Amino acid sequence: MTENGTLLEVDDLAVEFDTDEGMVHAVNGISYELDKGDSIGIVGESGCGKSVSSLAIMGLVARPAGNVSRGSIRFRGKDLLQVPADEMREIRGAQIAMIFQDPMSSLNPVYPVGRQIEESLRLHLNMTKQEARAKAVELLDTVGIPAPEERVKDYPHQLSGGMQQRAMIAMAISCQPDLLIADEPTTALDVTIQAQVIELLAELRRELGMAVILITHELALVAGFCDRVAVMYAGFIVEYAPVHELFARPQHPYTLGLMQAVPTITGDRSEKLSNIPGSPPDLIGLPQGCPYAPRCPYVRDACHSMVPALEDRGAGHPVRCIVDPATGELR
Ligand SMILES: Nc1ncnc2c1ncn2[C@@H]1O[C@H](COP(=O)(O)OP(=O)(O)OP(=O)(O)O)[C@@H](O)[C@H]1O
Ligand SMILES: [Mg+2]
Repeated sequence: MTENGTLLEVDDLAVEFDTDEGMVHAVNGISYELDKGDSIGIVGESGCGKSVSSLAIMGLVARPAGNVSRGSIRFRGKDLLQVPADEMREIRGAQIAMIFQDPMSSLNPVYPVGRQIEESLRLHLNMTKQEARAKAVELLDTVGIPAPEERVKDYPHQLSGGMQQRAMIAMAISCQPDLLIADEPTTALDVTIQAQVIELLAELRRELGMAVILITHELALVAGFCDRVAVMYAGFIVEYAPVHELFARPQHPYTLGLMQAVPTITGDRSEKLSNIPGSPPDLIGLPQGCPYAPRCPYVRDACHSMVPALEDRGAGHPVRCIVDPATGELR
């Protein structure tokens, strides 16, 4: 941590992927800060760069195609982009942990879930086999898995989706990280289980004093959980505000679109935001102007020629838009 209490400072982070079709500009210079124990929500539609920006914090951007092309990520004052790979492996898991979007991609199907938690404990905290087993059972209990002495021996496929997600959370918090990145921790779950998992994360955050980055499609989820919200579009942060302020005075037309979007139930599973007309731009040939201009009901000529800076335009928090949505006038 730095002297002013900031745990994480992401500054002008840009990530690109070199593909056969061209350079994908996945993250285009995002900046935010997180204090110890605080929570930030990163919200936006599919493909806007939420996961990639967080993978960059973990040092897990897929190489060689992926590349952090700009910026810095300071954690406790140290730039993670400059940290040697072996030190980064230590930090990952022990100080920064991530719950990945797809539980089955991080739970190894050939090992019992308990063993996976135990391995992390033995590696990072030097526990003996017996200590690690006892701690794994305790962690499964903490995350609300019934009969943890039995479940610790289960293989991932023997657990329901909700229980897999809880096991992932147990693994992520096993070493008491200072920062937990939760990437869509509930989208694969049905609605009641979603609420339980979010409540569990909130409880763990209070008890362990962890800072949390919560990545989600759903604005409603950040409302009850996060201190601040960054709304992302096409690799840019378009609005950044304390959560109550965002809901009281949304300033970016895209944020307004998200707020008006009605969730539609797809099957018995996740809810998806669906009704902003049009779709996000191609990140290979990003247009010169505001990336939201083609879908924006407030669009002006000027919007097609430049991307507005992210700055406070009188509403009390930064926004990347030249139109005041309350009046429809330029500001
Ligand atoms: N390995 C890769 N190679 C090429 N492009 C990639 C790669 N990984 C991500 N991208 C692209 O980067 C952009 C941002 O992806 P990212 O996974 O961060 O989106 P997201 O906001 O997490 O979306 P979702 O809500 O669907 O998870 C997307 O256009 C995606 O196609
Ligand atoms: Mg994602």
